[in-house]
Amino acid sequence: MATKTTAPKKPAAQQKAAATASNGRAAAPSVQPILNQQFDAPAPLQKYGTVSQRLPIGLDAATRQESVNMLNQLLADTCSIRDMYKKHHWQVVGPTFYQLHLLYDKHYEEQDALVDMIAERIQILGGVAVAMAADVAELTSIPRPPRDREEAPVQVSRLLEAHQIILKNCHEYAEKADESGDDGTNDLVVSNVLRTNELQVWFVSEHVVDTPLARS
Ligand SMILES: [Fe+2]
Repeated sequence: MATKTTAPKKPAAQQKAAATASNGRAAAPSVQPILNQQFDAPAPLQKYGTVSQRLPIGLDAATRQESVNMLNQLLADTCSIRDMYKKHHWQVVGPTFYQLHLLYDKHYEEQDALVDMIAERIQILGGVAVAMAADVAELTSIPRPPRDREEAPVQVSRLLEAHQIILKNCHEYAEKADESGDDGTNDLVVSNVLRTNELQVWFVSEHVVDTPLARS
């Protein structure tokens, strides 16, 4: 008795060659997307934590590695403060609702722009940028706020603490990048990350100065 067997899958090239209609003309290509390829994926193109030397940008391997490590920390912390701004944008209440609601969202957008700049600098240096929320949560040094809605002054205090963590790192990282000759990273850290965070600290801090609203 003949046993029923499953035909082995033909390689893609053979499948294409066999795809001819009965009139001898080539059959129309399939419009079926090739799904679920992540379950049979080859080795990743590049492992997280490694730094390739593909791009000729005049920096040695040790310098790139040090800069990528610093920038991934800065990236995780910037993702955290960005998302904290959106949390507070949604949850703020009180007499300063309107201005804080708008200010928080403005700062969110500015931090989001920094996220992209830092991540793209990591890629230029040959590294792999951290991206997903779960990985950011593992890497960030900014304390996790509760899921609860908090009073506006508490929101401001959390933001100022996060800004200060980022700013202290900026000073350290800028100095290290300067010493190693990575001028691009030094410039990004000082001109973009540090300056933006300092300005945001000013705008947020002034909301917790206890001055009278109607009568002096
Ligand atoms: Fe909104």
